Amino acid sequence: MQRRKFVMGSAAVLGAAVLGRGAWASVPKPYRWDAAPPIDSAADGADYVKWMVENRGESPKYLGMRWKRYQVLVKNKDLWRDADKRAFLLVPREEFTLKRNLARAYDNAFLDIGYGVTISGPHLVGRMTSAIDVKFGEKVLEVGTGSGYQSAYLANLTDKVWTVEIIKPLAGRTRGVYDDLIARGYSEFKSIKTKSADGYYGWEEAGPFDKIIVTCGIDHVPPPLLQQLKVGGIMVIPVGPPGAQRVLRVVKEKAPDGSITITRSDLYNGRIVPFVPFTKIEGDVIKGTHNK
Ligand SMILES: C[S@@+](CC[C@H](N)C(=O)[O-])C[C@H]1O[C@@H](n2cnc3c(N)ncnc32)[C@H](O)[C@@H]1O
Repeated sequence: MQRRKFVMGSAAVLGAAVLGRGAWASVPKPYRWDAAPPIDSAADGADYVKWMVENRGESPKYLGMRWKRYQVLVKNKDLWRDADKRAFLLVPREEFTLKRNLARAYDNAFLDIGYGVTISGPHLVGRMTSAIDVKFGEKVLEVGTGSGYQSAYLANLTDKVWTVEIIKPLAGRTRGVYDDLIARGYSEFKSIKTKSADGYYGWEEAGPFDKIIVTCGIDHVPPPLLQQLKVGGIMVIPVGPPGAQRVLRVVKEKAPDGSITITRSDLYNGRIVPFVPFTKIEGDVIKGTHNK
């Protein structure tokens, strides 16, 4: 495997100090949308690890952890289609966790990422992403970039991803993580457009979107997000009172009489899944939430 030293930008240097990132170029083969690692979850994972080492140059240690978590996700029906399975298996979650949490990168748990927020657990990310059924070429918006893991996952399903984060220094740090990974050969992350803003208002200039995924909890579906969702589009969003949200799948459709209908279903059959709050900006300051 060829190794190449790279120069990191300042946000990347800052991020590398806290995140579990390596210091060398690591992807030996160019990304291909038609290439996939073995996905047979009944296997022992040896073929998967071999394929990933040859094609992606990643560490067998984390690949083994990823494979084990993958088997549980498949058993638990958190990954619905082969495309979702491929995306989970291709994303190096360890690159998006804090150094001190590296050993827990594949735990079924949310983990602290600093700034009082978290990276969601792999089962939740798997199920929420499966529920929006992303197809190649579709435009997807994420509200709540956080660590960057969710959008990295989306970038293995489509080549058009937008993500918004309200905490400016976190948005900058995560931009650095993507730039660093791109420099190391993860060219699929070039398709992720990032910005720091209040995601309640979506990303109007880039919309409308085929799919929207919201990773912070709120007591209603933000009207601007519904507006920026295409007819036929799907959104997943945690809705409910603070700390007691239910993860909803919201579908926007056109009825035969031309009127727009919104249907909602619960991804966990009524189970409560607590999320980081959907906060808002007043002036330059994050203050309170968008709850009514
Ligand atoms: C559960 S965490 C991040 C999960 C993230 N998707 C990941 O992969 O790490 C939710 C994120 O939503 C962000 N957030 C909260 N309110 C927001 C808003 N109004 N606009 C944009 N991001 C917001 C938080 O700062 C936090 O980073």
